[in-house]
Amino acid sequence: MTTSPTHFDTAARDWDQRPTSLQLAAVPGRLLARLPLQASDHVLDFGAGTGLLSTAIAPQVAQVTALDMSAAMLQVLDEKGFANITTRQQDIFAGLPEQYHAIVSCMAMHHIADTAALLRAFAAALHSGGRIALVDLVQEDGSFHGDKAANVDKGVQHFGFEPGALQALAEQAGLMDIGFNEILRVQQRNGRAYPLFLMTGRKP
Ligand SMILES: C[S@@+](CC[C@H](N)C(=O)[O-])C[C@H]1O[C@@H](n2cnc3c(N)ncnc32)[C@H](O)[C@@H]1O
Repeated sequence: MTTSPTHFDTAARDWDQRPTSLQLAAVPGRLLARLPLQASDHVLDFGAGTGLLSTAIAPQVAQVTALDMSAAMLQVLDEKGFANITTRQQDIFAGLPEQYHAIVSCMAMHHIADTAALLRAFAAALHSGGRIALVDLVQEDGSFHGDKAANVDKGVQHFGFEPGALQALAEQAGLMDIGFNEILRVQQRNGRAYPLFLMTGRKP
């Protein structure tokens, strides 16, 4: 059975040149400043896309698993030629066979309807003491991705997140020391600037 290409399959080739991606290039350095990593670590990048986070993290750790549903996005990442990045094309809920020292993500959580289940999956896949560093939109009015049709086309499930609600879900999933920082404001063509948070935390 063949499946129809998603928005991300179609956008993959030009992804890194989008105005939003050019602004998001500031995220990895700021995230790494708040995520303690060791050279022996194995990191999972959820919704890795073309590797915004994976390619910045790979030089600092032993292994990065870049997980994404879109084969075309991962193809662009594979072509970047990082020996210690393993791309894995699957749905996040299809099961994670390994344990990770950290799970990172940029702008992927808002595509997942069941945030509580996502955070439970992250907690289950972390080693004891493992960390999360998750970047996404602060709650907005649905205008970040364009109009209503654009939100449907792009598979948007949440118009950002309210930090307090997200913290409660993370704690229910068994994570602790949850913290939020504003990591970037993304300027959109409508003239507005949308804040993104970095949510950090760890598994006991
Ligand atoms: C907005 S893109 C972000 C890509 C990259 N992290 C970046 O910041 O440039 C969201 C990514 O999440 C992936 N994605 C969405 N739902 C997913 C799921 N259920 N399982 C795995 N990947 C998913 C999409 O294919 C897409 O590549």
